[in-house]
Amino acid sequence: VITKIKARQILDSRGIPTVEVDLYTNKGMFRASAPSGDQTGMYEAMELRDGDKGVYLGNSVKRAVNNINEKISEALIGMDPILQAQIDQAMIDLDKTEKKGELGANAILAVSIAACKAGAAEKEVPLYKHIADLAGKPNLTLPVPSFTVISGGKHAGNNLAIQEIMILPIGASRFEEAVQMGSETYHHLKAVITEKCGAQGCNVGEDGGFAPNVSSFREALDLVKEAISRTGYSEGIKIAIDIAATNFCIGTKYDLDFKSPNKSGQNFKSGEDMIDMYKELCSDYRIVSIEDPFDKEDWEHVKHFSSLGVCQVVGDDLLMSNPKRVERAINESTCNAFLLKVNQIGTVTEAIEVVKLAKDAHWGIVISHRCGETEDTFIADLSVGLGSGQIKAGAPCRGERLAKYNQLLRIEEELGDQAVYVGEDWRLS
Ligand code: PGA
Ligand code: ZN
Repeated sequence: VITKIKARQILDSRGIPTVEVDLYTNKGMFRASAPSGDQTGMYEAMELRDGDKGVYLGNSVKRAVNNINEKISEALIGMDPILQAQIDQAMIDLDKTEKKGELGANAILAVSIAACKAGAAEKEVPLYKHIADLAGKPNLTLPVPSFTVISGGKHAGNNLAIQEIMILPIGASRFEEAVQMGSETYHHLKAVITEKCGAQGCNVGEDGGFAPNVSSFREALDLVKEAISRTGYSEGIKIAIDIAATNFCIGTKYDLDFKSPNKSGQNFKSGEDMIDMYKELCSDYRIVSIEDPFDKEDWEHVKHFSSLGVCQVVGDDLLMSNPKRVERAINESTCNAFLLKVNQIGTVTEAIEVVKLAKDAHWGIVISHRCGETEDTFIADLSVGLGSGQIKAGAPCRGERLAKYNQLLRIEEELGDQAVYVGEDWRLS
């Protein structure tokens, strides 16, 4: 049973406070922490921050920490950590608000994850196996990683509007080989950028992708294409992009120069122009997945683009891990893949449920990190346990990103002959 819960404030990868919790049972101590993102919207669970501008610029999380140490711990001590759904429900009942704003979704999530780790230990099974049991899904798979190699948008200080260019080593035979392919491409890309843009272009953004000061999508994609060709893997590596178009939607137009200091005003595109551009990019650059191609409220254009079937269309900001929005998008055939950010929903149980909803609709599933990450590797186990087929955890570089990929290497090793890397089946897993 849960004997003690102790929370503290730590810093995430951006140097911003977040919640960490140590949950104790008779089996030992289980630690978890909450990630945090740039995009925080009205449809997602609410992270509680203290708001005192004089302390960490308003970002400290001492109230969330106290809520764990006092209220949550009182409610959960004595409970069996195997009973994830009951534990999560107890916190939801204690919070009483729709968005978990009373106790803080950051407080609730950290405890939920720590309890999940404790549950696995209680059963004496690996965490991914416990998650698979909770989801009622027996076949474990290693996901295809989406390695961020170029950063832009709100994640970097260059002029590039698009938030991320990622590479998917779908041609690998094992996860270990996927990591090698990703790392080699990343280092070839460093050389390509140094040659074409100078060493300054190799400074990295928040997810570890390089941030060269290119001005167009094509210029950035050409760098990646060149790097992939230098690896010799060619067909084995596909490209995915996260447009995060909500960041540069102005009324009904999209401002591709939104970060440029000398805006000419000539790079405004309509939704239809954007669709034409995406179609061309997909055929010219082997792009197999586009995330948030339009503003989070521009469901019409997302739907139109998805219906063309040129690539996987992922709803991140569009859906905000909100089950109601996922359900609506399934009913209206708006997109065909779901990106899960666990802190947007707030408990392990609800995360499993919403993934099931999307899976039943035969959507692709991407388990995702946030730009503000910690050393916690929970999402690696989650992606294996849910058989998500895809994980997005940043560049094959920087400790907080590699923590997840390294955990997947360990899981593959532990599974031995049983390990299945999804490879070409990344969308169907
Ligand atoms: P975040 O988003 O900056 O909100 O974590 C990452 C993403 O858009 O995938
Ligand atoms: Zn995104």
